[in-house]
Amino acid sequence: MPNINAAIIGVSAYVPDYVLTNAELSTMVETSDEWILSRTGIKTRHILKGEGQGTSDMGAPAVLNLLAKTNTKPENIDLLICTTVTPDMQFPATANIICDKAGLLNAFSFDLNAACSGFLFGLQTAQAYIRSGLYKKVIVVGADKMSSIVDYTDRSTCVIFGDGAGAVLLEPTEEDLGIIDAELHTDGSGRIHLHQKAGGSMKPASHETVDAREHFIYQEGQPVFKFAVSRMADVSVDMMKKHNIKPEELAWLVPHQANLRIIEATARRMEIDPAQVMINIQDFGNTTDATIPLCLNQWESQLKKGDKIILSAFGGGFTWAAVYLKWAYNGADVAVK
Ligand code: ACO
Repeated sequence: MPNINAAIIGVSAYVPDYVLTNAELSTMVETSDEWILSRTGIKTRHILKGEGQGTSDMGAPAVLNLLAKTNTKPENIDLLICTTVTPDMQFPATANIICDKAGLLNAFSFDLNAACSGFLFGLQTAQAYIRSGLYKKVIVVGADKMSSIVDYTDRSTCVIFGDGAGAVLLEPTEEDLGIIDAELHTDGSGRIHLHQKAGGSMKPASHETVDAREHFIYQEGQPVFKFAVSRMADVSVDMMKKHNIKPEELAWLVPHQANLRIIEATARRMEIDPAQVMINIQDFGNTTDATIPLCLNQWESQLKKGDKIILSAFGGGFTWAAVYLKWAYNGADVAVK
């Protein structure tokens, strides 16, 4: 039986128009452009405004653009996985809603929640479905409306997050391309440091939970930072060693965009040049599930067939992951500016 990999054959992204600047945040909480930039690397983030607008309203346009770019009919998609921590509703799955809005009539779909590592968990899940031989065209959408769970009176979290969506189409290949390997980890004991206290089955919504602001992100920045730096670097370095990739052979590191200092520490541990690292945190902040496809989309025109790329992420759970892939097409041929 031939070895089958899932290869990304197209990428797309969507960010809402509204730009929330550090200057505007400084009018909302006690903070400054200098603090935010020096501690996180973030200058702006995009925010989805408007009554009744949810995560699917960013995921669906990303998917429609992906279909147009790859010249794919919506009815030919077999499976759509939406990775998100901010679903439109508790149920049904946001993936189901995206399929409806984008006309994916023949796809089955589900949501996957692994916080900021979600997109990488989604890629490995897509790889397993494709390798099974049962499904040929699979879309993974990473999308989050983080502004819906951010407390804009909490300066330690509200400066970090933004909204956005990114999507990739994966198909089987027998060439030495696509997803070569993935290492995924979870450690649920880390949940004490990063979670949303209310709104789940353990603590359903009530007047008290709303009054106590428990439907927002709760994060203890320091322990999360320490864990993120060590785990994201460990898993990325492990992947390089396992596949005998020398620093100069790596075309790109695509890191989750949580904090510029975490990205720089990871790149240093991998002994790679800053020019090999995709960084757009300054423009979008931490869009949770969307950071990695937003990067792939932005850099698509520079990606070449056969490029060795490591994607790596860390997030609530705790979760952390690295995916090693060989890019499957020349991005310059298809990238839409
Ligand atoms: N403006 C000004 N001062 C601030 C701000 C702000 N926006 N936020 C916090 N401070 C203050 C604090 O109150 C504190 O003041 P004090 O010394 O008087 O008590 C001081 O700055 C230092 O606070 P720290 O929390 O120690 O700041 P730190 O340098 O750790 O930066 C941050 C905070 C940016 C949150 C950092 O810890 C971080 O990036 N953590 C990791 C985040 C992450 O990776 N999350 C995982 C992904 S998210 C997910 O999965 C959904």
